[in-house]
Amino acid sequence: MGTRISDRIAAIAESATLAVDAKAKAFKAAGRPVIGFGVGEPDFPTPDYIVDAAVAAAKDPRYHRYSPVAGLPELRAAIAEKTLRDSGYAVSPSQVLVTNGGKQAVYNTFAALLDPGDEVLLVAPYWTTYPEVIQLAGGVPVPVLTDETSGYLVTVEQLEAARTEHTKVLLFVSPSNPSGAVYPPEQVAAVGRWAAERGLWVVTDEIYEHLVYDGRQNVSIAAVTPELGDRVVVVNGVAKTYAMTGWRVGWLIGPADLVRAATNLQSHATSNVANVSQAAAVAALTGDLSAVATMRAAFDRRRRTMVRMLSEIDGVRCPEPGGAFYAYPQVKGLLGRPLRGRTATDTVELAELILEEAEVAVVPGEAFGTPGYLRLSYALGDDDLAEGVGRIQRLVAEG
Ligand SMILES: Cc1ncc(COP(=O)(O)O)c(C=O)c1O
Repeated sequence: MGTRISDRIAAIAESATLAVDAKAKAFKAAGRPVIGFGVGEPDFPTPDYIVDAAVAAAKDPRYHRYSPVAGLPELRAAIAEKTLRDSGYAVSPSQVLVTNGGKQAVYNTFAALLDPGDEVLLVAPYWTTYPEVIQLAGGVPVPVLTDETSGYLVTVEQLEAARTEHTKVLLFVSPSNPSGAVYPPEQVAAVGRWAAERGLWVVTDEIYEHLVYDGRQNVSIAAVTPELGDRVVVVNGVAKTYAMTGWRVGWLIGPADLVRAATNLQSHATSNVANVSQAAAVAALTGDLSAVATMRAAFDRRRRTMVRMLSEIDGVRCPEPGGAFYAYPQVKGLLGRPLRGRTATDTVELAELILEEAEVAVVPGEAFGTPGYLRLSYALGDDDLAEGVGRIQRLVAEG
């Protein structure tokens, strides 16, 4: 008789971001005025024209039945068109698998690609879900460490140093969660060329593609590296671009064999994504990008406030993020220092201390493979944002 829970599943770590959120919510429920920088979701409602399309779909019996596992044909076509419009990357609708959020696209991709022992290069700090999913698939996550001195950008030399004969995949994420790093086009091309020359697969997570600031243009590594041929998978979704985190629509785009394998997996796991959500996604993707432009302007303003206020704190170093909606300051100067009579020795303890003493929720860098940092989402209202960072400022100033 083995253990009650399988070793494979028991090894999954609790999502640190959700854990912070749960603790912050418990504080709130107890009447404490917590300001949450923990979760990564836009504070805006989903635009009306998208919601209206969902309401119409809900009233149409056509949408009340099972539909094709890989997605509604009109949504797969809209995704192919949108990919050409936004990335200049030409794909056919048959290369698209619609998934329950970008998260299931990540899961399906690695489940379909990895055999035991296959290594995946991932740039640290990384989104907390990636290593768990890679390990679940039997793969080995190989973090390649970056820090604030390079703006959290990895170089080809670093990737080459981490590559072994077991390396199968490079996971490329720009803009990045948690660092907000956006790769300049020439660096995207250099990384793509390197991966193609080495015969690696590239999985590119482009979920924050439209959230880039200061006139930056996000480029897709799939589009600029045709040499990757049939070894590239694009992961994307509507969650961050259209304030649709709760609707659960994402997708992967890949070569025929990968899409077939991932669709077979999904057919036994979850079948089609909810049709009403898919209809909403069709409206989102066939509409224009004006709603995201409005949100981007608000995020940009909040980004500047947050970076300015964090940089005023002694012991905090905060590079300006070029994309997404996270700041990722290095806070090693706050460790081992008394704050309201308490001392944190690592950033897990520091995040706890900040929550308990300043009633502000932040996520420790340990969740992203880089202790010594904190992640703060700036996808919340301007006043709350200023008040929240102000509380951290006062906590540190008091000593
Ligand atoms: C980098 C990255 N990829 C994918 C996702 C998945 O988003 P969803 O499953 O909500 O579409 C997230 C969400 O936080 C993310 O940060």
